[in-house]
Amino acid sequence: MRRITLLLLLTLLLLTAGVMYVVLPQVQSARRCADAAPEVIHSSTGPNINIYSSAVSDTVRLMVFADTHLWMSDEREEPYREYSARMAGAYHSVKHFQTGTPTTPEESFLSTIRLAQSRGVDAIAMLGDIVSYPSERAVEWVGEVLDTVAIPCYYTSGNHDWHYEGMVGSSEHLRERWRAERLMSLFGDHDPDAYAVEVGGVRVLLVDDSNYKITPEQRDAVAAEVKSGKPFILMHHIPFYAPSRSVSFGIGHPEWGAATDSGYKIERREQWPAEGHTEVDYEFYDLATTAPNLLASIAGHVHSYGVDIIHGRPHYTVGANATGAYYIVNIMPMAN
Ligand SMILES: [Fe+2]
Repeated sequence: MRRITLLLLLTLLLLTAGVMYVVLPQVQSARRCADAAPEVIHSSTGPNINIYSSAVSDTVRLMVFADTHLWMSDEREEPYREYSARMAGAYHSVKHFQTGTPTTPEESFLSTIRLAQSRGVDAIAMLGDIVSYPSERAVEWVGEVLDTVAIPCYYTSGNHDWHYEGMVGSSEHLRERWRAERLMSLFGDHDPDAYAVEVGGVRVLLVDDSNYKITPEQRDAVAAEVKSGKPFILMHHIPFYAPSRSVSFGIGHPEWGAATDSGYKIERREQWPAEGHTEVDYEFYDLATTAPNLLASIAGHVHSYGVDIIHGRPHYTVGANATGAYYIVNIMPMAN
């Protein structure tokens, strides 16, 4: 009897030891995971993005929007009607992205700016296609509205902002010309190709990728942000490629090029190059999507809300501001 009891006790001890052997490493492993919690946490609901970062000590709030597609014009547009007619006829009938009620690009722009004021944002970022073509009146109107707002406003151009359909010339040349002649008031004193500003403790880098091409200087602007180690957000018009996305998510798309360009005839523009992206384009993509200090990238162009996680980092697209769409981005210290 005593021998049976001892055997039972021994068996019980061995079983307990076995359970401890199996469970304890898991408990320790779980704790290790908690210790190695990511330094950036994102949560997004509707048009709000919350970013918690251990590299940020004060809250920074941004209003971000793209693709308002304003189309108003006046007599100064007369010499250019043959180049602006199609886009001047677009976006006359739009529905609000939340209510479904009819609205206009002007009302959407105004309500977005009013919201930025009422939320007390630290800066406004406009990510291209704010106008449907480089209409002097439309750009002037944007300036008049922004002049009434005591909030820093930053802008980078979209493919329509500088495009007169059917005008002869390369995308580089036409972008250079119409940014200089019509859009510089929106860029302020900044380099329209790429510039960085600091908002609170967060760097905001705006890169004009609106012709799907990246210059060595633009690549180097991202490299400088990576080297700085400071938390930064990349803002641009054309989003980054992610697997399963169409060639419209062009930056870095391996199939982007003349063979997949279905829009050049209707937009009456230079066809995308036969050779596709350059090495510099891919270097820009790789640098930006693997930057350890990148909080997020935000782009427009595709007129829809979305997020792709590339190498563990989020890349957002925003809906068309013509329909009232926007993001309020709250960047906050890591929650305890
Ligand atoms: Fe657009």
